[in-house]
Amino acid sequence: MFDAKTTCMVVVGAQWGDEGKGKLVDVLAERADLVVRYQGGANAGHTVVIGDTQFILRQIPSGILHSGVTCIIGNGVVLEPENLFAELDSLHQRGIDTAGRLFISDRAHLVLPYHKLLDAASEKSQKLGTTGRGIGPAYEDKYGRRGIRVTDLRRVECARMLLSDRVHRANQLLQLMESTERADLDEHVRLLERLAPRLLPLAADAGLLLHRAIKDRRRVLLEGAQGALLDVDHGTYPYVTSSNTTAGGAAVGAGIGPTAIDGVLGVVKAYTTRVGNGPLPTEAPAPYEQRLRELGGEFGAVTGRPRRCGWFDATVVRYAARVNGLTGLAVTKLDVLDSFPEIQVGTMYRLGGEPCEEMPAEVEALGRVEPVYETHAGWQRPTGTARRLADLPSAARSYLDRLQELSGAPVRYVSVGTRRDQIIEV
Ligand code: IMP
Repeated sequence: MFDAKTTCMVVVGAQWGDEGKGKLVDVLAERADLVVRYQGGANAGHTVVIGDTQFILRQIPSGILHSGVTCIIGNGVVLEPENLFAELDSLHQRGIDTAGRLFISDRAHLVLPYHKLLDAASEKSQKLGTTGRGIGPAYEDKYGRRGIRVTDLRRVECARMLLSDRVHRANQLLQLMESTERADLDEHVRLLERLAPRLLPLAADAGLLLHRAIKDRRRVLLEGAQGALLDVDHGTYPYVTSSNTTAGGAAVGAGIGPTAIDGVLGVVKAYTTRVGNGPLPTEAPAPYEQRLRELGGEFGAVTGRPRRCGWFDATVVRYAARVNGLTGLAVTKLDVLDSFPEIQVGTMYRLGGEPCEEMPAEVEALGRVEPVYETHAGWQRPTGTARRLADLPSAARSYLDRLQELSGAPVRYVSVGTRRDQIIEV
């Protein structure tokens, strides 16, 4: 992963999120000095299992579970402070010391209760099936140049004035949306007064910290949240999140130049899942979908919603490899397929009877494509104890070879279970 020439790596999801980035980053973080989150917010849910303990991290990079690693929440993240502190408290209760190891960009925008009220009241959010964490409204405020940033807390009077304006505006919008909910200005002021003393000691010029670390050849892992097909530019718009989940977003959201990045690892499940609404071309028929969901534990880490499940979609991953500039793939959850006698792979689509090898821009067209499947023999043997490629059944190796060929990026890691040690480095 890291060597003399490769010191700054991005890890991104290359499907619709939930690919197992949390585990990958946790494993890779052992060799990193810094781990950085650069977009999204508490809509993400990175699950890491250590021994018998399961950690679900939403905003803090999963690198925090390694004592020598410094973690940064970059300017591209929309930060929900209360959730951050709950997450920190839960880590402390479980014996993880974070003192001096977590920094938050002073340019990061805050997600406040009024953002969540707006997300919940919005008909559009319902239609998209958002996580309800106020992510869309917070990014709207950021780009509308009316956001409140971490640095604003340094001047309480200024923060109060900003809040008064924003809460008033939120209430007007709530009224327009015919919601009976209203945001309370005093509650918001008290919230910020309470949070500021804990948040400000963590605030830093994160881009500068990173710049210095990269100059000193320290090893940096930039951890994406969600997945390429949820990217606001490249995803299945409008069924997307509100940030750039693809590797380009890493430079912007961490505050470094793109030339600082040496490689991009795309994480993919050995099959496909999606939460929220929008097309999922390779969604499997009910019995297979249920089986994948049960075996893979496919329920949302943030909302608990059952994930929609289907076969590996090579058109999606080929596209993700292109828009992210993937230099490698990590295939996760291979073990979930262990008991299937046959496994389908969608190699390309047909649209109106014509071959379609590239992702269409219109979500309506993606809803109409028919995947072209090829059938692979299953291996029907447990793979959870494999630690080298050679330990895998030959049918599983052929399956991986085919995913690599169809995706156009080399497989570098294969995960065969939830535990840290259940990983193959290729
Ligand atoms: P939002 O990010 O809450 O606005 O939700 C927009 C869309 O992105 C919805 O379809 C969500 O289900 C999806 N989404 C957001 N975060 C994640 C994630 O971490 N994993 C998978 N889907 C996500």
